[in-house]
Amino acid sequence: MTETEIPTIQIIDAKDYVGQTVRIGGWLRQKRGSGKIAFLQLRDGTAFFQGVVVKADVPENVFETAKELKQETSLYVTGEIHEDSRSSFGYEMAVSDIQVIGASQDYPITPKGHGTEFLFDERHLYLRHIKPFATLKIRNTLIAATYEFFNQEGFIKLDAPLLTGSAPEGTTELFETDYFGQSAFLSQTGQLYAEAGAMAFGKVFTFGPAFRAEKSKTRRHLTEFWMVEPEMAFMDQEASLALQERYIAFLINKVLEQNDQELDLLKRDKDLLRSYTQLPFPRVSYDDAIQLLQDNDFDVQWGVDFGSPEETFLANHFSKPVFITNYPKEIKAFYMKRHPSRDDVVICADLLAPEGYGEIIGGSERDTDYDYLKARIEEEGLSLDEYGWYLDLRKYGSVPHSGFGLGLERMVTFVTGEDHIREAIPFPRMMHRIRP
Ligand code: 4AD
Ligand code: MG
Repeated sequence: MTETEIPTIQIIDAKDYVGQTVRIGGWLRQKRGSGKIAFLQLRDGTAFFQGVVVKADVPENVFETAKELKQETSLYVTGEIHEDSRSSFGYEMAVSDIQVIGASQDYPITPKGHGTEFLFDERHLYLRHIKPFATLKIRNTLIAATYEFFNQEGFIKLDAPLLTGSAPEGTTELFETDYFGQSAFLSQTGQLYAEAGAMAFGKVFTFGPAFRAEKSKTRRHLTEFWMVEPEMAFMDQEASLALQERYIAFLINKVLEQNDQELDLLKRDKDLLRSYTQLPFPRVSYDDAIQLLQDNDFDVQWGVDFGSPEETFLANHFSKPVFITNYPKEIKAFYMKRHPSRDDVVICADLLAPEGYGEIIGGSERDTDYDYLKARIEEEGLSLDEYGWYLDLRKYGSVPHSGFGLGLERMVTFVTGEDHIREAIPFPRMMHRIRP
């Protein structure tokens, strides 16, 4: 066969080329072997597999090249694809030729094992490794599935600005920046813009970065994270909760369908994940949640926000994602709808994920009344100049509407089983990390 007849393929497609000679462009992850045989661990961005170079079967210079290869050298390998029952991938290549493309010397992430801080200092390289690969492929599935789900539900995507003049989720968590001599803030949420969009298009969702200058160093908080925020005109909270659980089940099912390899690489329990697609999710009022916690020896009083231990207990108690509904007004945002018969709680819900992954969705019905919202904005010490446009939405054809926000990285950690949210985004931003 001449070189032009050899197909260039991707590792993921090896199963379709058993018994054929192919060429693959990739990188060398690791290498082991003896004087007679070299095992090349290869990756190409689609999957991981092994190339075997047998000294007796190849020209001397090919075996010499194989022996000299360093970690992360880029190369073309040519050879025949074989089934390989010993590897979880199932196929390998009997290498007959190697062409080095780009050399690599002293690659810093060696097989010996490193601390997490080091790996994240080298995140631009660490992306190439198995755990980030699998996690971020699943993130990508969640993003694509989000567009698919909301498109099929009749939503349009509406892009919210990231430079804003206001602080809807509380003034203590703002990143401030200079905007031609005025103060501007990096957006905490696209919601208020989504509400304007819902009054124009009926059902919209925003999807983009959100910024929170949170001084919390937990495994669930980033200072820059990505949020999906649907907003629906003429929809009450009940219908919104039904939409939310359908969305979560849709996301999990897509990952089960499309990321079998990645879930295996991460050793995520697929049956457990599948169990979370059984609808409906339980709905528990904040009042009942407090009672349940107190009955189980938690030292919590009505009115407090839940911390991580409380959230973990509640979700594990139901072995499923659980909606905690109708929180105290004092601990929630100004725009949430008043309860029709109580003035101490609002019509809202947080969705808590099981296994300790915490709050993955926060949402509510929105209050529709101009005077009430104006008073709430003033009460919260927010500026009426900044929120005048938002109040217009209650002045010109106000309608019942609801919405919610899903934290993408929280969802990624939940689906992948990662223990820290920094794994769930390519380049995490946290209180003590802004590089690389
Ligand atoms: O509960 P939050 O603050 O709600 C809002 O921002 C609303 N405007 C949403 C809406 O109704 N349109 O944030 C929503 C979700 C949380 O449930 C959580 O999943 C995620 O965003 N989130 C964070 N994720 C990572 N790091 C942080 N610091 C986060 N803060 C919130
Ligand atoms: Mg919240």
